[in-house]
Amino acid sequence: MLALSDTCLKERVLKEDVLVVHGGTPLRGEIRVRGAKNLVSKAMVAAVLGETASTLYDVPAISDVEIVTGLLEAHGVRVSTGPEGELVMDPANVTRAAVDEINVHAGSSRIPILFCGPLLHRLGHAFIPDLGGCKIGDRPIDFHIQALREFGAVVDKRPDGLHLSAPQRLRGIKYELEYPSVGSTEQVLLTAVLADGVTELRNAAVEPEIIDLICVLQKMGAIIKVHTDRVIEIQGVDRLTGYSHRPIPDRIEAASWGAAALATHGEIFVRGAKQADMMTFLNVYRSVGGAFSVDDSPVGGGIRFWHPGGELQPVALETDVHPGLMTDWQQPLVVALTQARGLSIVHETVYERRFGYTTELNQMGANIQLYSECLGGTPCRWGRRNFLHSAVIAGPSKLHAADLQIPDLRAGFSHLIAALAAEGTSRVYGVDRYISRGYENFDGKLEALGARTERP
Ligand code: EPU
Repeated sequence: MLALSDTCLKERVLKEDVLVVHGGTPLRGEIRVRGAKNLVSKAMVAAVLGETASTLYDVPAISDVEIVTGLLEAHGVRVSTGPEGELVMDPANVTRAAVDEINVHAGSSRIPILFCGPLLHRLGHAFIPDLGGCKIGDRPIDFHIQALREFGAVVDKRPDGLHLSAPQRLRGIKYELEYPSVGSTEQVLLTAVLADGVTELRNAAVEPEIIDLICVLQKMGAIIKVHTDRVIEIQGVDRLTGYSHRPIPDRIEAASWGAAALATHGEIFVRGAKQADMMTFLNVYRSVGGAFSVDDSPVGGGIRFWHPGGELQPVALETDVHPGLMTDWQQPLVVALTQARGLSIVHETVYERRFGYTTELNQMGANIQLYSECLGGTPCRWGRRNFLHSAVIAGPSKLHAADLQIPDLRAGFSHLIAALAAEGTSRVYGVDRYISRGYENFDGKLEALGARTERP
């Protein structure tokens, strides 16, 4: 009986969580991007480290922010919102959370793992539930755990999650990452700032979101030096205060709309998009034949993306850590590449399984073949391990409508772009569950851009 009602519930959710897309209309108009999801969520965790309240501005209304808000509140942080995306977090009464309260968020995001350092400093212990996030690879947390153990944390892996304790004040470490992982770099930063002594992190990630997190921590009182060659040095301090911060804009969302303009033969002004953080994307965009112009007015500036007419050109590209081409830009770009004349090659070097979404694109008429060899560029970690991590895209392909079940956040947005570019009516399932994790008010933005969509 329970199983039956569960199934009914699942079907109902699936039916409700659908966007009907009448494709074939160029997207035209203006939308605005707010603070980067992958900075905002980390800055929210950093608020736990302060002795006074912190304020973040321009926070997007996305479900990842709701998840981190839930985790903060479960730990006694008072969170309040103001106009224009203002978020105030007061950690004065940080306290141990009930396992059940934390478990509500199990499997929903990768962010909980970053609470380790801040909670160990504030409370001496932490519980981290099973992690979620997009299913784009194994996504191990071995670097996080190794580093935390070096800091002096006791990490106990149990079936319900990780139980951590810090019998003494954590102490600074010398640590070299095997790979410049974004999350592990953030883990070390968030732990080292209040540890005793100096931490030297080698082979660190230096994504703009990490530099912005360093700005947040510096405002709180941290002493962090970013040296050349991916070396970050953190001098531990005894206390940190709250911060007030306006995050960098979301360069993944901005690029997603840029790719949507290209794939639908449209023109989109992405207000808030910042050129400096998107240079690699803009180079590829231009090489493919897309056009853009930068308006760098301090208020109201952004980047205009458009399809200038004529044929798009094929390209060979490779995803990489910053300053390389972001892996999160790959999926929306591939949809645009289905419209280029000739063979494009994309080598994904960050995640081993980030091409799953191409099955649906092929069902819509695209011609994308996957290979386990490292095609083009430098051999990567996945070539020896037989993962289908290179793609050859033959175009141009006329895309036709389909019913699509989206598998994760970025792949979901790509499916949405494909449905908008295709002739006919597609039904895209899972939009609220996945796309709203990282794209604020995408229904409203689609409407503003003249897309013909409906909620049945
Ligand atoms: N890795 C390990 N061991 C670890 C940690 C990472 O082997 O302990 C590997 C991963 O398996 C992966 C590589 O290192 O192959 C890079 O992973 P990274 O740690 O950099 O990724 P992340 O911190 O989990 C963040 C973003 C992702 C983005 C990547 C790369 C957040 C919440 N997520 O993930 O964003 O793709 O960095 O830039 O910041 C998204 O927004 O949709 C998204 C997936």
